[in-house]
Amino acid sequence: MAATRNSNSSPDDAFYQAADTFFPANHQVGLTFDDITLATLYSEVLPRDTQLDTPLADGLHLNIPVISADMDTVTESRMAIAMALNGGLGLIHYNMPERQQLSEVSRVKYHVQGLIQDPIKVSPDQHIGDVLKLIEEKKFGFSTFPVVDDQGRLVGLLSGHVVKPRYAGKKVADALTPRAQVHAITTRELGKDPMARADKFFTEHMGIHKLLVVDEHDHLQGLITMSDVERITLERKAQFKPARDAQFRLVCGAAVSATRNAFGELDRERILNHVGALVERGVDVVAVSTAHGHSKGVGDTVRVLRDAFPQLPIIAGNVTSAAGVEYLADCGASAIKVGQGPGSICTTRIVAGVGIPQMTALYVCAQAAARKRVRVIADGGITKSGDIVKALTLAQAVICGGIFAGCTESPGEVIEIGGKLYKQYRGMGSLAAMKAGSAARYGHEKADATRKLAAEGIEALKEACGSVDRVLAQFIGGIQSGMGYLGAANLEQLREKARYIRVSPAGQREAAPHDVVELKTGV
Ligand code: XMP
Repeated sequence: MAATRNSNSSPDDAFYQAADTFFPANHQVGLTFDDITLATLYSEVLPRDTQLDTPLADGLHLNIPVISADMDTVTESRMAIAMALNGGLGLIHYNMPERQQLSEVSRVKYHVQGLIQDPIKVSPDQHIGDVLKLIEEKKFGFSTFPVVDDQGRLVGLLSGHVVKPRYAGKKVADALTPRAQVHAITTRELGKDPMARADKFFTEHMGIHKLLVVDEHDHLQGLITMSDVERITLERKAQFKPARDAQFRLVCGAAVSATRNAFGELDRERILNHVGALVERGVDVVAVSTAHGHSKGVGDTVRVLRDAFPQLPIIAGNVTSAAGVEYLADCGASAIKVGQGPGSICTTRIVAGVGIPQMTALYVCAQAAARKRVRVIADGGITKSGDIVKALTLAQAVICGGIFAGCTESPGEVIEIGGKLYKQYRGMGSLAAMKAGSAARYGHEKADATRKLAAEGIEALKEACGSVDRVLAQFIGGIQSGMGYLGAANLEQLREKARYIRVSPAGQREAAPHDVVELKTGV
């Protein structure tokens, strides 16, 4: 006979438990995404109506809870721009000279959507034949180019109508439309809403599809095309708005390390100078990124930064314990990165024998974070949109590396192998990345990088997967579906409503496509 149960309680309550019942009841085992599933609930919420905005720190609000990882094969300015345009955030990695990181941040902060800031230009001394060669080599899909002198001043426009083999021997200077006949606008005239201004221009100048932008001394500053303006006007109606700061600039984050000086002490001066320069460039958040956040070096760095920049949002990590969260929160962090070893290119658990499966780590850390009033960011191990839904039942945002590494906007070249296209993806603890500068993140001195180090990450390839817009659209759709199933209209409700059950190995097999010949993958 079945065990007697209180007649008022539903079997649902016994089987599908809230986080505070479920995780303590499973305290003897570390659980990750595939070990659990979420129970559905009565819903009046349509997926498309769900809200995904999330506060990451006082003064930093994202419109989608997704952040691209501070890794040298994932986030530089192109990725950060794409992430912010989609409502998320990119963390620019620090495996580059500090000056370069500042320029990367500036590129994001001064990105005017639709303004091509560094258009391909030609010089009056070149021949049309040179331009044709350039188009072929670089596979450009366009053949109209601004012409500038050696000072960068606009001298005319080389129209696609004359970029033909029959004119190959002619000089650009003799073929261009002269400056006086070229439409250009100054950056000042573009005003606060450059796209609205450009839209008006194209309506007023029938047949003109390109607008050049110059400074007050006629130096070329950019190019706006009519097709981009039309695409952006359409996008403005999109559900998830770009993530912007109070001055309407895209948000951008940058990773910093707990740099040490020649005596092995924290290099306070260098860290403060660098973060000061980042703040001057308008950075919205810095991430003190290391493999072991519950450590003196990371805590001291956060403390130094908090004292010097009381208002600056600071992300710190990584940790997987409540004590680690409390420590970093007490040092002044606003949001804590949780994850040690779940990443797709990580070998920390194999090499060092440490790390906690991600859902258990998130639950433990979320408890401490709630007490300390800081946010939790789930970092690593995300391969499916369902993983993000599960992570967001405990965290305010997720950080992803692997799912973005194959995107057009990630750094690095596309490689062709056996007819398939790939991009490189490597752990920041891989030997190659540590030699390029990330050794400190894994507790090694910079000088160590020439010695034999114990790598905690691998070098890998990801299949090229198109634009971030496309990838995010798939993931966002999945998150919204999950929320619809739980009747959660926003992320706070998702955290409140989530109920969990463990999944057996057979249940995991059941969850993926099975007993069919798969023609097209759904993810
Ligand atoms: P995914 O799964 O999104 O993980 O590819 C990205 C996260 O992995 C972390 N990371 C590393 N962890 N060794 C590690 O143990 C490494 O070499 C390494 N590189 C990155 C990091 O937290 C990142 O956001």
